[in-house]
Amino acid sequence: THRQPETPFRKVKTMSTFSTRLIQWQRQHGRNNLPWQTRDPYRVWLSEIMLQQTKVATVLDYYPRFLAAFPTVQALAAASQDQVLSLWAGLGYYSRARNLHAAAQQIVQQHGGAFPSTRAELETLKGVGRSTAAAIAAFAYHQREAILDGNVKRVLCRVFAQDGDPADKAFERQLWALAESLLPSQSSDMPAYTQGLMDLGATLCTRSKPRCHECPMQSLCQAHAQNRTAELPRKKSPAAVQQQTLYWLLIEQNHTIWLHKRPQHGIWAGLWCAPTFNSLAELQHFAAQHRLPFQHATELPIIHHRLTHRQLEIIPYYIAADLGSLKAEGCNKVKAATGEWVSPQAFAQYGMPKPLEKLLAK
Ligand code: ADE
Repeated sequence: THRQPETPFRKVKTMSTFSTRLIQWQRQHGRNNLPWQTRDPYRVWLSEIMLQQTKVATVLDYYPRFLAAFPTVQALAAASQDQVLSLWAGLGYYSRARNLHAAAQQIVQQHGGAFPSTRAELETLKGVGRSTAAAIAAFAYHQREAILDGNVKRVLCRVFAQDGDPADKAFERQLWALAESLLPSQSSDMPAYTQGLMDLGATLCTRSKPRCHECPMQSLCQAHAQNRTAELPRKKSPAAVQQQTLYWLLIEQNHTIWLHKRPQHGIWAGLWCAPTFNSLAELQHFAAQHRLPFQHATELPIIHHRLTHRQLEIIPYYIAADLGSLKAEGCNKVKAATGEWVSPQAFAQYGMPKPLEKLLAK
Protein backbone atom coordinates (compact mmCIF):
# COMPACT_ATOMS: atom_id res chain seq x y z
CA THR A 1 0.00 0.00 0.00
CA HIS A 2 1.10 3.53 -0.66
CA ARG A 3 1.45 5.80 2.28
CA GLN A 4 1.81 9.53 2.21
CA PRO A 5 5.21 10.70 3.41
CA GLU A 6 5.20 11.46 7.09
CA THR A 7 4.70 15.12 7.87
CA PRO A 8 3.33 16.60 11.06
CA PHE A 9 0.55 18.19 9.01
CA ARG A 10 -2.06 15.94 7.58
CA LYS A 11 -3.72 17.26 4.47
CA VAL A 12 -1.54 18.56 1.69
CA LYS A 13 -4.71 19.86 0.08
CA THR A 14 -5.37 22.30 2.94
CA MET A 15 -1.98 23.81 2.32
CA SER A 16 -2.62 25.14 -1.15
CA THR A 17 -6.04 26.26 0.06
CA PHE A 18 -4.35 28.14 2.85
CA SER A 19 -2.11 30.26 0.61
CA THR A 20 -4.81 30.78 -2.05
CA ARG A 21 -7.32 31.99 0.49
CA LEU A 22 -4.79 34.17 2.22
CA ILE A 23 -3.61 35.86 -0.97
CA GLN A 24 -7.18 36.58 -2.13
CA TRP A 25 -8.17 37.91 1.25
CA GLN A 26 -5.06 40.09 1.48
CA ARG A 27 -5.71 41.70 -1.91
CA GLN A 28 -9.32 42.51 -0.95
CA HIS A 29 -9.18 43.20 2.77
CA GLY A 30 -5.56 43.57 3.75
CA ARG A 31 -3.45 46.67 4.25
CA ASN A 32 -2.38 47.77 0.78
CA ASN A 33 -1.38 51.41 0.92
CA LEU A 34 1.50 51.37 3.34
CA PRO A 35 4.41 53.58 2.27
CA TRP A 36 6.94 50.75 2.58
CA GLN A 37 5.10 48.46 0.18
CA THR A 38 7.71 48.82 -2.54
CA ARG A 39 10.44 46.61 -3.93
CA ASP A 40 13.17 48.88 -2.60
CA PRO A 41 15.03 46.70 -0.09
CA TYR A 42 16.22 49.73 1.89
CA ARG A 43 12.67 50.92 2.45
CA VAL A 44 11.41 47.44 3.24
CA TRP A 45 14.24 46.79 5.69
CA LEU A 46 13.74 50.11 7.48
CA SER A 47 10.01 49.45 7.85
CA GLU A 48 10.50 45.89 9.10
CA ILE A 49 12.92 47.05 11.79
CA MET A 50 10.56 49.83 12.89
CA LEU A 51 7.61 47.42 12.91
CA GLN A 52 9.38 44.81 15.04
CA GLN A 53 8.06 46.14 18.33
CA THR A 54 5.91 49.04 17.21
CA LYS A 55 2.39 49.37 15.82
CA VAL A 56 1.77 50.38 12.21
CA ALA A 57 0.04 53.62 13.27
CA THR A 58 3.12 54.76 15.21
CA VAL A 59 5.53 53.74 12.47
CA LEU A 60 3.51 55.72 9.91
CA ASP A 61 4.36 58.79 11.96
CA TYR A 62 8.13 58.15 12.16
CA TYR A 63 8.93 56.40 8.90
CA PRO A 64 8.54 59.36 6.48
CA ARG A 65 10.68 61.64 8.66
CA PHE A 66 13.38 59.02 9.00
CA LEU A 67 13.38 58.32 5.28
CA ALA A 68 13.49 62.04 4.47
CA ALA A 69 16.55 62.43 6.71
CA PHE A 70 18.23 59.27 5.35
CA PRO A 71 16.89 58.60 1.86
CA THR A 72 19.48 55.93 1.05
CA VAL A 73 21.50 53.34 2.89
CA GLN A 74 24.59 55.43 2.09
CA ALA A 75 23.06 58.47 3.80
CA LEU A 76 22.19 56.38 6.85
CA ALA A 77 25.68 54.87 7.02
CA ALA A 78 27.27 58.32 6.82
CA ALA A 79 25.13 59.82 9.61
CA SER A 80 26.33 60.09 13.19
CA GLN A 81 24.86 57.74 15.77
CA ASP A 82 23.34 60.75 17.55
CA GLN A 83 21.50 61.86 14.40
CA VAL A 84 20.03 58.38 14.03
CA LEU A 85 19.10 58.04 17.70
CA SER A 86 17.43 61.44 17.84
CA LEU A 87 15.19 60.60 14.89
CA TRP A 88 14.38 57.31 16.59
CA ALA A 89 13.57 59.02 19.90
CA GLY A 90 10.16 57.91 21.12
CA LEU A 91 10.03 54.65 19.13
CA GLY A 92 11.76 52.85 22.00
CA TYR A 93 13.93 49.73 21.91
CA TYR A 94 16.93 51.81 20.89
CA SER A 95 19.10 48.80 20.17
CA ARG A 96 17.08 48.66 16.94
CA ALA A 97 18.39 52.09 15.94
CA ARG A 98 21.99 51.29 16.88
CA ASN A 99 21.82 48.03 14.94
CA LEU A 100 20.17 49.73 11.97
CA HIS A 101 22.99 52.26 11.80
CA ALA A 102 25.64 49.54 12.16
CA ALA A 103 23.94 47.41 9.48
CA ALA A 104 23.91 50.37 7.05
CA GLN A 105 27.68 50.62 7.55
CA GLN A 106 28.00 46.85 7.00
CA ILE A 107 26.12 47.17 3.70
CA VAL A 108 28.30 50.03 2.52
CA GLN A 109 31.59 48.52 3.67
CA GLN A 110 31.02 44.81 3.01
CA HIS A 111 28.60 44.88 0.08
CA GLY A 112 29.73 48.05 -1.69
CA GLY A 113 26.40 49.69 -0.89
CA ALA A 114 24.40 47.06 -2.81
CA PHE A 115 21.70 45.57 -0.61
CA PRO A 116 22.13 41.83 0.05
CA SER A 117 19.47 39.88 -1.83
CA THR A 118 19.23 36.48 -0.20
CA ARG A 119 17.75 35.54 3.12
CA ALA A 120 21.07 34.02 4.27
CA GLU A 121 23.01 37.21 3.50
CA LEU A 122 20.31 39.42 4.98
CA GLU A 123 20.55 37.44 8.22
CA THR A 124 24.19 38.51 8.61
CA LEU A 125 23.07 42.13 9.07
CA LYS A 126 22.97 43.43 12.62
CA GLY A 127 19.46 43.37 14.03
CA VAL A 128 18.07 41.15 11.26
CA GLY A 129 16.88 37.72 12.38
CA ARG A 130 15.50 34.89 10.28
CA SER A 131 11.92 36.18 10.07
CA THR A 132 12.90 39.77 9.25
CA ALA A 133 15.38 38.53 6.62
CA ALA A 134 12.62 36.40 5.10
CA ALA A 135 10.18 39.33 5.05
CA ILE A 136 12.72 41.51 3.20
CA ALA A 137 13.50 38.68 0.76
CA ALA A 138 9.78 38.12 0.12
CA PHE A 139 8.76 41.79 -0.27
CA ALA A 140 11.77 43.16 -2.12
CA TYR A 141 12.91 40.11 -4.10
CA HIS A 142 9.76 37.92 -4.27
CA GLN A 143 11.67 35.01 -2.81
CA ARG A 144 9.87 32.03 -1.37
CA GLU A 145 11.00 32.46 2.21
CA ALA A 146 8.78 31.89 5.22
CA ILE A 147 8.26 34.43 8.00
CA LEU A 148 7.42 33.46 11.57
CA ASP A 149 6.93 36.32 14.00
CA GLY A 150 4.65 36.35 17.02
CA ASN A 151 1.52 37.16 15.00
CA VAL A 152 2.23 34.48 12.42
CA LYS A 153 2.84 31.86 15.13
CA ARG A 154 -0.58 32.66 16.54
CA VAL A 155 -2.26 32.20 13.15
CA LEU A 156 -0.50 28.90 12.46
CA CYS A 157 -1.01 27.48 15.95
CA ARG A 158 -4.73 28.13 15.60
CA VAL A 159 -5.38 27.09 12.01
CA PHE A 160 -3.37 23.87 12.47
CA ALA A 161 -4.15 23.32 16.18
CA GLN A 162 -0.49 23.28 17.18
CA ASP A 163 -0.38 23.17 20.96
CA GLY A 164 3.31 22.78 21.73
CA ASP A 165 5.22 24.66 24.38
CA PRO A 166 6.42 27.96 22.87
CA ALA A 167 9.71 27.68 24.80
CA ASP A 168 10.45 24.28 23.22
CA LYS A 169 13.07 24.45 20.45
CA ALA A 170 11.70 21.35 18.69
CA PHE A 171 8.24 22.92 18.58
CA GLU A 172 9.74 26.09 17.16
CA ARG A 173 11.46 24.07 14.40
CA GLN A 174 8.15 22.34 13.67
CA LEU A 175 6.43 25.71 13.23
CA TRP A 176 9.15 26.84 10.81
CA ALA A 177 8.65 23.63 8.82
CA LEU A 178 4.89 24.25 8.78
CA ALA A 179 5.41 27.87 7.67
CA GLU A 180 7.67 26.70 4.83
CA SER A 181 5.24 24.00 3.72
CA LEU A 182 2.48 26.59 3.30
CA LEU A 183 4.27 28.98 0.93
CA PRO A 184 2.51 29.71 -2.37
CA SER A 185 4.11 28.09 -5.41
CA GLN A 186 4.40 31.33 -7.39
CA SER A 187 7.13 33.74 -6.35
CA SER A 188 5.12 36.72 -7.55
CA ASP A 189 2.52 35.94 -4.86
CA MET A 190 5.05 36.26 -2.05
CA PRO A 191 4.37 39.91 -1.13
CA ALA A 192 0.58 39.45 -0.87
CA TYR A 193 1.02 36.14 0.94
CA THR A 194 3.55 37.51 3.46
CA GLN A 195 1.60 40.70 4.04
CA GLY A 196 -1.57 38.58 4.37
CA LEU A 197 -0.08 36.56 7.24
CA MET A 198 0.89 39.76 9.02
CA ASP A 199 -2.48 41.40 8.36
CA LEU A 200 -4.48 38.39 9.48
CA GLY A 201 -2.55 38.16 12.73
CA ALA A 202 -2.77 41.88 13.40
CA THR A 203 -6.39 42.52 12.46
CA LEU A 204 -8.56 39.34 12.74
CA CYS A 205 -6.63 36.56 14.43
CA THR A 206 -5.83 38.68 17.47
CA ARG A 207 -4.67 37.36 20.82
CA SER A 208 -8.04 38.00 22.48
CA LYS A 209 -11.46 38.15 20.81
CA PRO A 210 -10.41 36.99 17.34
CA ARG A 211 -12.94 37.93 14.66
CA CYS A 212 -13.43 34.41 13.31
CA HIS A 213 -16.67 35.25 11.46
CA GLU A 214 -14.67 37.57 9.16
CA CYS A 215 -11.72 35.22 8.73
CA PRO A 216 -10.93 33.58 5.38
CA MET A 217 -9.57 30.55 7.29
CA GLN A 218 -12.63 29.95 9.44
CA SER A 219 -13.80 26.80 7.66
CA LEU A 220 -10.37 25.18 7.81
CA CYS A 221 -9.29 26.48 11.20
CA GLN A 222 -8.86 23.57 13.57
CA ALA A 223 -8.80 25.74 16.70
CA HIS A 224 -12.10 27.30 15.63
CA ALA A 225 -13.66 23.89 14.95
CA GLN A 226 -12.47 22.63 18.34
CA ASN A 227 -13.50 25.82 20.13
CA ARG A 228 -9.91 26.31 21.28
CA THR A 229 -9.00 29.76 19.94
CA ALA A 230 -8.74 31.03 23.53
CA GLU A 231 -6.19 28.40 24.55
CA LEU A 232 -4.05 28.45 21.37
CA PRO A 233 -1.30 29.36 21.05
CA ARG A 234 -0.13 28.25 24.49
CA LYS A 235 1.23 31.11 26.53
CA LYS A 236 4.88 31.60 27.31
CA SER A 237 5.64 31.59 31.00
CA PRO A 238 6.37 35.25 31.64
CA ALA A 239 10.02 36.28 31.79
CA ALA A 240 11.20 37.24 35.24
CA VAL A 241 10.98 40.98 35.76
CA GLN A 242 13.78 42.57 37.75
CA GLN A 243 13.05 45.43 40.03
CA GLN A 244 15.67 48.19 39.88
CA THR A 245 16.00 51.59 41.51
CA LEU A 246 17.96 54.36 39.81
CA TYR A 247 18.74 57.90 40.86
CA TRP A 248 18.92 60.79 38.44
CA LEU A 249 20.59 64.09 39.10
CA LEU A 250 19.04 66.89 37.07
CA ILE A 251 21.42 69.82 37.14
CA GLU A 252 20.11 73.10 35.83
CA GLN A 253 22.24 76.11 35.03
CA ASN A 254 21.16 79.18 33.06
CA HIS A 255 18.09 77.37 31.74
CA THR A 256 20.12 74.45 30.48
CA ILE A 257 20.31 70.85 31.75
CA TRP A 258 23.41 68.77 32.07
CA LEU A 259 23.20 65.65 29.87
CA HIS A 260 25.83 63.05 29.10
CA LYS A 261 25.95 60.36 26.47
CA ARG A 262 25.53 56.92 28.00
CA PRO A 263 28.00 54.14 27.20
CA GLN A 264 27.36 51.82 24.21
CA HIS A 265 26.35 48.93 26.47
CA GLY A 266 23.74 48.43 29.13
CA ILE A 267 20.60 50.36 29.86
CA TRP A 268 19.79 53.23 27.43
CA ALA A 269 23.01 52.58 25.53
CA GLY A 270 24.12 55.59 23.47
CA LEU A 271 21.25 57.82 24.64
CA TRP A 272 21.68 61.18 26.33
CA CYS A 273 20.71 61.17 29.98
CA ALA A 274 21.04 62.96 33.30
CA PRO A 275 23.80 61.51 35.49
CA THR A 276 22.42 58.18 36.74
CA PHE A 277 23.34 56.31 39.91
CA ASN A 278 22.47 53.05 41.63
CA SER A 279 22.28 54.61 45.07
CA LEU A 280 21.68 57.95 46.70
CA ALA A 281 25.14 57.73 48.26
CA GLU A 282 26.73 57.60 44.78
CA LEU A 283 24.65 60.54 43.67
CA GLN A 284 25.72 62.54 46.71
CA HIS A 285 29.33 61.61 46.13
CA PHE A 286 29.09 62.89 42.55
CA ALA A 287 27.45 66.11 43.77
CA ALA A 288 30.21 66.65 46.32
CA GLN A 289 32.95 65.97 43.76
CA HIS A 290 31.47 68.60 41.50
CA ARG A 291 30.74 71.03 44.34
CA LEU A 292 27.05 70.98 43.70
CA PRO A 293 24.98 72.13 46.68
CA PHE A 294 23.17 68.85 47.37
CA GLN A 295 21.60 70.35 50.50
CA HIS A 296 19.48 72.49 48.15
CA ALA A 297 18.46 69.55 45.96
CA THR A 298 14.76 68.75 45.60
CA GLU A 299 13.51 65.19 45.34
CA LEU A 300 11.00 65.01 42.48
CA PRO A 301 8.14 62.48 42.27
CA ILE A 302 9.24 58.88 41.65
CA ILE A 303 8.92 57.66 38.07
CA HIS A 304 7.85 54.09 37.39
CA HIS A 305 9.00 52.86 34.01
CA ARG A 306 8.71 49.40 32.51
CA LEU A 307 11.43 48.08 30.21
CA THR A 308 11.21 44.63 28.62
CA HIS A 309 12.81 42.74 31.50
CA ARG A 310 13.00 45.42 34.13
CA GLN A 311 10.62 47.42 36.26
CA LEU A 312 12.43 50.66 37.00
CA GLU A 313 11.85 53.00 39.85
CA ILE A 314 13.62 56.26 39.10
CA ILE A 315 14.14 58.80 41.85
CA PRO A 316 15.03 62.15 40.31
CA TYR A 317 16.80 64.89 42.23
CA TYR A 318 16.81 68.41 40.90
CA ILE A 319 19.51 70.89 41.69
CA ALA A 320 20.03 74.42 40.42
CA ALA A 321 23.77 74.68 39.90
CA ASP A 322 23.74 78.46 39.90
CA LEU A 323 22.17 78.43 43.35
CA GLY A 324 24.85 80.08 45.45
CA SER A 325 27.82 77.89 46.24
CA LEU A 326 28.72 76.45 42.84
CA LYS A 327 32.18 77.54 41.89
CA ALA A 328 33.21 78.02 38.30
CA GLU A 329 35.76 75.29 38.76
CA GLY A 330 33.08 72.82 39.84
CA CYS A 331 31.09 73.63 36.75
CA ASN A 332 34.12 72.93 34.60
CA LYS A 333 34.58 69.59 36.28
CA VAL A 334 31.06 68.63 35.33
CA LYS A 335 31.86 69.68 31.81
CA ALA A 336 34.91 67.44 31.74
CA ALA A 337 32.72 64.38 32.32
CA THR A 338 31.82 64.01 28.59
CA GLY A 339 28.52 65.81 28.56
CA GLU A 340 26.84 69.02 27.50
CA TRP A 341 24.64 71.75 28.85
CA VAL A 342 21.50 71.42 26.73
CA SER A 343 18.77 74.02 26.36
CA PRO A 344 15.11 73.00 26.01
CA GLN A 345 15.03 74.19 22.37
CA ALA A 346 17.73 71.60 21.61
CA PHE A 347 16.13 68.63 23.44
CA ALA A 348 14.69 67.25 20.20
CA GLN A 349 18.21 66.78 18.83
CA TYR A 350 19.20 64.53 21.72
CA GLY A 351 17.98 60.94 21.80
CA MET A 352 16.90 60.48 25.42
CA PRO A 353 15.18 57.74 27.41
CA LYS A 354 11.42 58.22 27.22
CA PRO A 355 10.93 58.84 30.97
CA LEU A 356 13.57 61.60 30.92
CA GLU A 357 11.97 63.19 27.88
CA LYS A 358 8.63 63.25 29.71
CA LEU A 359 10.15 64.64 32.87
CA LEU A 360 11.98 67.42 31.02
CA ALA A 361 8.79 68.30 29.13
CA LYS A 362 7.29 69.20 32.52
N1 ADE B 1 4.66 44.00 10.97
C1 ADE B 1 5.86 43.57 10.57
N2 ADE B 1 6.03 43.80 9.26
C2 ADE B 1 4.90 44.40 8.82
C3 ADE B 1 4.47 44.90 7.58
N3 ADE B 1 5.25 44.79 6.50
N4 ADE B 1 3.25 45.46 7.50
C4 ADE B 1 2.48 45.53 8.60
N5 ADE B 1 2.83 45.09 9.79
C5 ADE B 1 4.04 44.53 9.91
